[in-house]
Amino acid sequence: MTAARRGPRYLLLTVLLSLVTLVSRAQNDSSSEAAMHRFVSGLMSKMTLEEKIGQMSQIAQHAPPLIPHEESVRQEQVGSFLFVRDPQEINRLQHIAVDETRLHIPLIFGFDVVHGYRTIFPIPLALAASWDPTLEESAQHMAAREAAAVGIRWTFAPMVDIARDARWGRIMEGAGEDPYLGQRMAEAQVRGFQGTDLSSPDSILACVKHFAAYGAVAGGRDYDEVDVSDNLLQNVYLPPFHAAEKAGAATFMAAYMNFNGIPASGDRYLLDDILRKDWGFRGLVVSDWETIPNLRTHGFAADDADAAARAVNAGVDMEMTSHVYLQNLAADVKAGKVSERTIDDSVRRILEAKYKLGLFKDPYAPQGAAERELVSPAQRQAARDAAERTAVLLRNEGDLLPLRQSSLHSIAVVGALADSKADTMGSWSLAGHYDDTVTILEGIRAKLGSSVDVRFARGVELDRGSESIFDPQFASPKPTLLTQQQKDAAFAEALDTIQQCDVAVLVMGELQSMNGERASRQSLDLPGDQEKLLEAAIATGKPLVLVLLTGRPLTINWAAAHVPAILNAWYPGTEGGHAVADLLFGDANPGGKLPITWPRSVGQEPLYYNPTLSQIPNDRDTMYWDGSNAPLYPFGYGLSYSKISIGGLKLSAEKLQPGGTLSATVTLQNSSQRDGDQVVQLYVHQRAGSAARPVRELKGFERVTVEAGQTRTVTIPLHADDLRYWSATTRRWEEGSGTFDVWVGDSSAAVDHTTFVEQP
Ligand code: NOJ
Repeated sequence: MTAARRGPRYLLLTVLLSLVTLVSRAQNDSSSEAAMHRFVSGLMSKMTLEEKIGQMSQIAQHAPPLIPHEESVRQEQVGSFLFVRDPQEINRLQHIAVDETRLHIPLIFGFDVVHGYRTIFPIPLALAASWDPTLEESAQHMAAREAAAVGIRWTFAPMVDIARDARWGRIMEGAGEDPYLGQRMAEAQVRGFQGTDLSSPDSILACVKHFAAYGAVAGGRDYDEVDVSDNLLQNVYLPPFHAAEKAGAATFMAAYMNFNGIPASGDRYLLDDILRKDWGFRGLVVSDWETIPNLRTHGFAADDADAAARAVNAGVDMEMTSHVYLQNLAADVKAGKVSERTIDDSVRRILEAKYKLGLFKDPYAPQGAAERELVSPAQRQAARDAAERTAVLLRNEGDLLPLRQSSLHSIAVVGALADSKADTMGSWSLAGHYDDTVTILEGIRAKLGSSVDVRFARGVELDRGSESIFDPQFASPKPTLLTQQQKDAAFAEALDTIQQCDVAVLVMGELQSMNGERASRQSLDLPGDQEKLLEAAIATGKPLVLVLLTGRPLTINWAAAHVPAILNAWYPGTEGGHAVADLLFGDANPGGKLPITWPRSVGQEPLYYNPTLSQIPNDRDTMYWDGSNAPLYPFGYGLSYSKISIGGLKLSAEKLQPGGTLSATVTLQNSSQRDGDQVVQLYVHQRAGSAARPVRELKGFERVTVEAGQTRTVTIPLHADDLRYWSATTRRWEEGSGTFDVWVGDSSAAVDHTTFVEQP
């Protein structure tokens, strides 16, 4: 029963109680803030300038050290380590820091916990394809538990860079192209990593990266320069960063690249004016890998001393990997290029982060936690559920999927990717283990047991050609390079295997090393001879399912027209094989939706659903005379084994006040025999603004389950605050105003339409 229904006195009491709780929580917060301030100030009053600068240095395990690691700790020349992940080693170094130094300041151990720590979850782009922020939050919470169990209390995630260009390899690390979906996923990840209390032993610091607009690198070439207008910056690239900051993210990472003419790691406008002054961020900013010495490479800093001064003066508190701060900041202070106050501000933020984690009280990796937490049954189950909820069904002609186990005698599983541990996990699975990982072949075998003859053929071997950034420590095993004769034989064997079976599952896509950092592409086609094999496989006339492993959209036009069933599994993680098998055989029902537009040709990139229109607006799809500009699959698209329609759009009101909310209600009908999920998506278009307004923008969504044969209404709130936009005319944030179009449906191509008016 609600408070309102119990009567006015009960309501009053409830309100009073909530107020008391709020006030006492605020008092607690401010008294714990005050205690932290006193503690950190006391500590800083004892520190020499050199000790302070030591805290501002982060050493990477694999980078060439200045002196042996333990000596750096003893001499108080390090505040943090990156990539150390053996709990014994973490505790050994921590003991040196706490027991053998004058000030006993604990270290903080950081690592890229991007989509799982040891239990690998689907890649972040896939997690965004779940359109389920609660799933994203719980996946990152599971990842935090594992990382914290070995003593890692800082992750370099979430990566919240909006990416509109699939050539960029790092598109797989983010939530895709849309600022609204990006915001929801950014804040969910921060909540997942940090929990409600950073000092809880399973919380780790989030690090929001890469500040800012790294996703807009020219030509999708990694590390290239970024030139974005204020309009794009404010309305597209910054919102997920701001959402993460508002969700309480404790740390940010400055980006590598040149941002509008100034290297991002030396840009006071980004790091100070926007992040600290406009948004009020009080946490710590770490550089990216060697971005401080690289201020010279940009043609920006004259030498290392200049680079150190420019980075710290811009607001970079800690240097990752390189030693430019350590070797130059003291001289910079003496020369008057950097004030002691600036150093103090940085050191305070670093010590506060350690304090908030409770490291001054308990700095060690908990005994026995690693054995208990890593790849536990609960972790595995969560990873399997996540992989099932993130897959996107792109095509299913004649309901070929799900496959019916009872009517099969034999199945061909084809493709080197089908049996690759590394490529099941995906890029940025740095602590994942091959032994834990279930490939798609293994998953299918486990599901079918001996009842069906499962035959495997590698078909086409893939090779990236050049080394990936993670070689040699983290690379996938090198493919056995085959002679042309061997390649032809493997191709023929794959076709032969398909001929002999009732049905074939072809697992194709990209090696994990073909996306991620330093993994940009000029083509978005299936690499190597995969499409050739696909075409020959179709010619056999056998029913054929294509399972994609990819971290970016691929231009699979031929497959989209000829292969009856296509399931995009992204890189599904440790439990990927089980999850894909569940999906193929109907023990799970796909419900994911694309968080990124799939183009037909690489020449369309960057392609996104929310541009502004101009001349001949209805002919946008024909703007190239040599090919269609329509997407192959639009943003928000994805099928299910169920048939769930969305209709009957109604708004709760025709008018919306600034600051107010209205809601859109639709009816979902599942006309199939199978329970399934649908993602209801709400898009708006402001008909006239003080600056041009995009053709449509996502402003609400909800993933719901509809039982077989059932109808269900879904109400999506629409907040006036989400209609605010940064106007390039007035150069400030404005309320939406005037008439808005609204569409609600199952993708960005939604047609169910109505309007409302926002009026002050
Ligand atoms: C460089 C990458 O750009 C960044 O995302 C990552 O966190 C650091 N390396 C540390 O691995």
